[in-house]
Amino acid sequence: MGTDFNSLVKTDVDLQPYNTLNISAKARYFASVELESQLKEILRHPKTEKLKIMVLGGGSNVLFGDDFDGLILHIQIKGKEVIKETDDYVWLKIGAGENWHQTVRYCVDKGWGGIENLSLIPGTVGAAPIQNIGAYGVELEEVFEWLEAVDIEGRETRRYEKEHCEFGYRDSIFKGELKGVVIVTNVVLKLSKNPELNTSYGAIQSELEERNIDKPTIRDISDIVIDIRNSKLPNPNLLGNAGSFFKNPIVRDDDYEHIKKEYPEAPGYDMGNQKTKVPAGWLIEEAGWKGKVVGNTGTYKQQALVIVNHGGATGREILDLADRIKKSVKEKFGIALVPEVNIVSSDGKV
Ligand code: EPU
Repeated sequence: MGTDFNSLVKTDVDLQPYNTLNISAKARYFASVELESQLKEILRHPKTEKLKIMVLGGGSNVLFGDDFDGLILHIQIKGKEVIKETDDYVWLKIGAGENWHQTVRYCVDKGWGGIENLSLIPGTVGAAPIQNIGAYGVELEEVFEWLEAVDIEGRETRRYEKEHCEFGYRDSIFKGELKGVVIVTNVVLKLSKNPELNTSYGAIQSELEERNIDKPTIRDISDIVIDIRNSKLPNPNLLGNAGSFFKNPIVRDDDYEHIKKEYPEAPGYDMGNQKTKVPAGWLIEEAGWKGKVVGNTGTYKQQALVIVNHGGATGREILDLADRIKKSVKEKFGIALVPEVNIVSSDGKV
């Protein structure tokens, strides 16, 4: 006997509590699922067949430009389990609906290293591999082993090994070929009991010096990353935002040199292959947008790459601001910014 479809799926649900940009938008159908079996049941149900489906985790990387005329599956699958252990490593299987930051702190408490630089990233564990979350010199792919996902028809659970995930900068196969094809249910990470710390990021190094820490632990790194993030990024509970709104563009070295002629201080990170990554925050600041307030929206005063909702902003207002920023960066630098945030809108604008 299955669970009643109608008891799981609600209609006309306001999405404001489910997105960190704090945008009010309606989902025609909405279901919170705690079990893989519930997920499969909903996906297999005849009523689901004709519906557009969207998966939502922590809602920290999404902008609702319009109401969503389909079914939102809010993944709440929980659980943390060590499925394998050696003297040096643990393999931790984590439910897609677990909170990412709480998972990081759980690992820090256990002394398992590898994700401490990714402290305080909002969102869920299931969303982490989709955009290959990264911060302060570390990307998820470095500790990722495999994930489990249910196919969109709800027929089977599939396993995707790291080498099949096509990880890139804020990118994976789950944003490309497998978008809308599978739904992540569990993620397995390989964490180290003798962690090698990544302190390459300048801000971490200077904090370690400031605090006179010679032999940092993973807890030190996690604490420092939390402090750096708190000083640069707005707390979504206090000011609606979705972190970096755009990706850092990767341009040809020639184009970067061209910018440097006019702006010798322009930051850039060599990516090899005659490519340079230019911080979008710098481009946006130079284009005059840092800390600007536009109606109910604006950019954050400490980080121009973060678009904020000062209260009551609609998804359309945020999209319009993003569009204006994009146009002015294009005009000034000839660089096309690409959103990092997933945009849900009927016309696919920005
Ligand atoms: N900068 C400015 N003005 C600004 C913001 C940044 O000039 O208003 C310049 C500075 O030169 C600064 C450089 O940009 O040194 C880089 O800024 P920051 O260290 O804040 O990092 P970011 O490149 O803007 C990326 C990630 C963040 C991640 C940080 C730290 C992307 C799109 N964003 O930001 O991830 O936390 O590095 O590693 O890659 C997110 O994805 O939501 C996110 C917050």
